[in-house]
Amino acid sequence: MPSHSSRLPSNLTPSVVAEAVAARRRSGAPLFDLTESNPTRVGLAYPPDLLAPLADPAALVYDPQPLGLRTARAAVSADFERRGIRVPDDRVAITASTSEAYALLFKLLCGPGDQVLVPRPSYPLFEHLTALEAVEAVPYDLEYHDGWRLDLDNVRAQVSSRTRAILVVSPNNPTGSYLHQDDLAALVGIAAARDLAIIGDEVFWDYPLQRPDTAVSVLAQQDVVAVGLGGLSKSAGLPQVKLGWFGMSGPDAQVRALLDAYEIVADTYLSVSTPVQVAAPALIEAGAGMRRAIQARLDRNLTALGSRIEWYPSVTLLPPEGGWSAVLQVPAYESEEAMVVGLIEREGVLVHPGYFFDFAREAFLVVSLLPEAGVFDHGLARVLARMSGAVGR
Ligand SMILES: Cc1ncc(COP(=O)(O)O)c(C=O)c1O
Repeated sequence: MPSHSSRLPSNLTPSVVAEAVAARRRSGAPLFDLTESNPTRVGLAYPPDLLAPLADPAALVYDPQPLGLRTARAAVSADFERRGIRVPDDRVAITASTSEAYALLFKLLCGPGDQVLVPRPSYPLFEHLTALEAVEAVPYDLEYHDGWRLDLDNVRAQVSSRTRAILVVSPNNPTGSYLHQDDLAALVGIAAARDLAIIGDEVFWDYPLQRPDTAVSVLAQQDVVAVGLGGLSKSAGLPQVKLGWFGMSGPDAQVRALLDAYEIVADTYLSVSTPVQVAAPALIEAGAGMRRAIQARLDRNLTALGSRIEWYPSVTLLPPEGGWSAVLQVPAYESEEAMVVGLIEREGVLVHPGYFFDFAREAFLVVSLLPEAGVFDHGLARVLARMSGAVGR
C-alpha cells in the first residue's frame, strides 16, 4: 500500500480528547461545547436572503482572473478603507479562504525546507498549513505581562538563513492580542535587514473587546512587503461562502514583482468561484449586520465570564483585546489533558486544552465566546466549579 507523504502527520489516530468527545456523543449524554467557533451553529439569526447575491446572473459568464474580478478587489479595497487602511485594488487578491491564502503565499515566498516564523501560542492549523507546503513553521514566543506581547528578542533569535516570512496574528487566536505599533516597527526592522515578508492574519480584526489605541495593521507601513489577510469567514460570519482576500503593502517595485509571480500561482488553480466573486461587494456590505450580531454575542459572553470568574480566585481570565476566544489560567493540579477529559466525562463540557495552541507551560483552558448564552453560562459554571475544587474529582 502506498504510504502518505511526510507532509502529513505520521500518526493519524484520534487524540485522547477527540476519543472522549466521541464516546460522550455516542452515549447520548449532553455535551456543552465551549469550543464551538462555527458562527453558523450558535443560534445567530442570519437573514434568509443573505446569500441571494450568489444567484446574480452576471456570474453566468466565466472571466478567469488570477487575482480576482476587479469588482471584488475594489470591494475589498473599500473594506480596508472602512478600517482606515489604504490598499489600492491593484494590491488586492481574492482567495477561496484565508487558509488557502496561506498555502498560496507559502508557495509564492518559500521553497521546500524554507522557514516561516509563527507565533506561539497560536492557531494550530499553521503546523499543517506549513507542512503541506513542505515549509517549516518555527515558533517565536508571545509573552504575558499584563497583556500578550511579542518577545522580540526571541523573534530575532529564531530568524535563520532559511527564514522567508514572519507571521503575526492580530488579534491572535486564542490570546486575543493585537499587534501594537512599536512591535510592528521592530518587526519591520527585522524584516528589512533580512529581506523577509511580514504576513498579518487580521481575520478577527473587526471584533474588538478591549482594542488598544496602539493596535495596528501590518499594512500600515510601506517599508517592507507585508500581506494582510482577511475574509468573510470571520468578518461576516460566513465560513461556508469561501471568500477570503489579502492586501499587500510595501515598496512599489517589490509589490509589483511579487504580485506578478503570485499571478502564476493563482492562475494554476483559479479556485475562487465566479458567483462568490460577483457577490463579493454585496456580501461584504451585508456582512456588517452579522458582524454586529457576533460582536453582541462576544460582548455578552465576555461580560458574563468576567463577572462569574470573580467568585473563583483560583481561576484567572487573561483578558482578550479582541477575537472570539478567552484564555483561562487554572491551577495545574493535573495535566491539561486529564482536566479536559475529566470535564467531558464528568461535567459534559468541552473546552480546549492550552497545549492545543502550544502554550509554553500548563495549565490553561481556552473557551470560545461564541456559544449561545445558555450553553456558555452552563458550561462555564461547570468548568469554574470543577477548576476551583467545588466538584469532586
Ligand atoms: C487566526 C485564524 N486565521 C485563519 C482562519 C481560517 O479562516 P478561513 O475560514 O478564512 O480559512 C482561522 C479559523 O479559525 C483562524 O482562527
